[in-house]
Amino acid sequence: MDLNGYIDHKRDEHLNDLYELLRIPSVSAQSQHKPDIERAAQWVADRLRRAGLDTVEIVPTQMHPLVYGESLRAPGKPTVLFYGHYDVQPPEPLELWTSPPFEPTVRNGNLFGRGTADDKGQIHIHIRALDALRQTAGKLPINVKVLIEGEEEVGSESLWDYVTHNKAKLKADALVVSDTSMLARGVPSITYGLRGLCYFEIAITGPAQDLHSGIFGGAAPNPLTILAELFAKLHDKNFRVAIPGFYDDVTPLSRAERKALARLPFTAKGFRKTVGSPALCGEKGFSVAEQVWCRPTLELNGMWGGYTGEGSKTVIPSKAHAKFSTRLVPRQDPAKISQLVERYIRKLLPKTVTCDFQVLSTGKPWVAPYTHPFFEVAHDALEKGFGKRAVFIREGGSIPFVTQMYDTFKVPCILLGFGLPDENAHAPDEHIALENYFGGIKAVANFYQGLGKL
Ligand code: BES
Ligand code: MN
Ligand code: MN
Repeated sequence: MDLNGYIDHKRDEHLNDLYELLRIPSVSAQSQHKPDIERAAQWVADRLRRAGLDTVEIVPTQMHPLVYGESLRAPGKPTVLFYGHYDVQPPEPLELWTSPPFEPTVRNGNLFGRGTADDKGQIHIHIRALDALRQTAGKLPINVKVLIEGEEEVGSESLWDYVTHNKAKLKADALVVSDTSMLARGVPSITYGLRGLCYFEIAITGPAQDLHSGIFGGAAPNPLTILAELFAKLHDKNFRVAIPGFYDDVTPLSRAERKALARLPFTAKGFRKTVGSPALCGEKGFSVAEQVWCRPTLELNGMWGGYTGEGSKTVIPSKAHAKFSTRLVPRQDPAKISQLVERYIRKLLPKTVTCDFQVLSTGKPWVAPYTHPFFEVAHDALEKGFGKRAVFIREGGSIPFVTQMYDTFKVPCILLGFGLPDENAHAPDEHIALENYFGGIKAVANFYQGLGKL
């Protein structure tokens, strides 16, 4: 049986195996799930062993374990390092899920559950592809190294330490990642750019304690009002970030790239439908694709303080809090941007409050050429998996590890995403289209097989 035939023949087996992984609530952010994290790492290690990798180890770290495996039995053939993550985002709010987050359920050709698209479903695609290659050919056509972490959704703190201490071991001719999306249904995609990230939390304090708003209101500063005023000043009327110097290092888009992006089957209308808001907003002078993939942004992620319970409480809160983040594009530097943001916020705040400013995490943006011969193999493989020619896209999300690997090892990074932008990653009712999951297994198996023929 040929490779695609074999993969089709095993559809039920692929799915039943994936269900096992999806049932493990490996939420990296919540300490009560530590045992589930350990269980997920064990599960992944076991499947890598079954897929034929020779050395598989679970590497303990300061936080959550990494899983590493390799098969180096194809002398003279390329070596790829595959990276993914077995941890998932918290499932809350639970009441908004149609079926429970850790009970995988198929509806209308989609598989629902936390991690189906981000990223368990996608790492499973690679596990099953390796398994299919070994079952059909008796051995793997290339050398593979597999690194699957459990801290991606909380900042990958342990990962880089491991990589820098194991550079020789992890050396490869290419990095392969499946943790991104396709442009749209029926449009297989290779991602050549990601945005970077700076994540901040601030607490501002006015009065030394909460105050009766009747006794003190009118003369005492209100930190919540001040916080709202602050965030209202961080964008101008054209939706540009109003922080001095914020755009200084942004590489302008070339005419050729703008033309290529404009030719993609990506419409503002379709995007608005996915967003679900009455209208879109965004930086003037740029298409929607450019706004979300190629331009930097600042977003308020959460704001709290004062009284939010039932009924009314006349209070002036002592403190107000906010979480906010910036997405960065080449050649913005997260350290420099963090400084600019902090300096400007401190400048805007009145003398009536003090401010505690924290940088919670940072990651560098990434864009790279896609001229290496491996990209041609990937392109053909996607066609074998999906029956359609792939497009090259950028995306707005962040995978800081890709930039670190690209800068350190200077190897091509091949991002084959099998999610879709409207599959609710990080949200209730996360899902993956079954056609993309199965198409993904075929594409990846053909990709590895193709690399073996180079
Ligand atoms: N898989 C995503 C990254 C992603 C999302 C890439 C959409 C392309 C399109 C990843 O799991 C993720 O959620 N990353 C975080 C950043 C991380 C440092 C916590 C993100 O982008 O917010
Ligand atoms: Mn992910
Ligand atoms: Mn994620």
